[in-house]
Amino acid sequence: MLRARHLIDTSDLTLKELEEIFDLAHQIMANPKEFSHLCEDKILATLFYEPSTRTRFSFEAAMLRLGGKIIGFSEPNSSSVSKGESIADTTRTVGCYADIIVMRHPKEGAPKVASMYSDVPIINAGDGGHQHPTQTLTDLLTIKSIKGELSNLKIGCCGDLKFGRTVHSLIKTLSRFENNKFYLISPNELRIPEYVKGELNKNNIEYTEVEKLDDVIGDLDILYMTRVQRERFFNEEDYIRLKDSYILDIEKIKNAPEKMIILHPLPRVNEISIEVDDDPRACYFKQAQYGMYVRMALIVKLLGAK
Ligand code: NCD
Repeated sequence: MLRARHLIDTSDLTLKELEEIFDLAHQIMANPKEFSHLCEDKILATLFYEPSTRTRFSFEAAMLRLGGKIIGFSEPNSSSVSKGESIADTTRTVGCYADIIVMRHPKEGAPKVASMYSDVPIINAGDGGHQHPTQTLTDLLTIKSIKGELSNLKIGCCGDLKFGRTVHSLIKTLSRFENNKFYLISPNELRIPEYVKGELNKNNIEYTEVEKLDDVIGDLDILYMTRVQRERFFNEEDYIRLKDSYILDIEKIKNAPEKMIILHPLPRVNEISIEVDDDPRACYFKQAQYGMYVRMALIVKLLGAK
């Protein structure tokens, strides 16, 4: 059997393939009816070992809008996982029923392990504090659609850069495009991990680490806000001390360029005041919508559906 294509990390896709996925997503957005039967005989399984709203629903909605069907769990205790089944066995079994598997797991590397045992495509929907490649596809489609390009951008990533898997994937991927510059805005304790900095250094990408958002907000094309990842903290006191490090409000964005866009993978807690939602720069709900279309394109691509 031909080995399946997986998406564990965005580096599994070439730049050309990334562009193809974004083009396909645009085609689907323009002409959804044309694609509504493409996956009629296919089943997508969602194996979610960790909570989710956007990622799971957007995958399920994506498959349903392609005419396919869905199975899965959003709560591992309701499956044989609670009996102690290994990831390898669960994956092999689900692969007997489904044509493509989407997995979210609290352990870094779990979807990678699954992919080693799977004859059907595995999509990493977030592995611990590590990577979240389909959120990055979402972010890139949003940026490309609104800004027109993925190069020559000044990108501020703000919040929990240590545990926030979405920023790890985003930085890694945007480093592959030309002339991007990163502003890494976080409290000292939540700075970006060394391995992500390694990627930046390897690709000779300019970046600066700062603690104050005010110092750099005036320079940015994109401000990517993130939630402090409570579930990854070892103690609650540290979380409580750090959780409101950044609160983006109307006052703060007064100094931001008019054309800057504000993104957030969501869910938000306190880091963006709701008053900002009405500002034309706020694009995070639009971003959630792009997420479904890009996942439709990804499913089509990995299934080779024509
Ligand atoms: C993100 C995640 O799960 O990492 N959510 C998402 O998929 N949109 C961000 C977060 O939970 O903070």
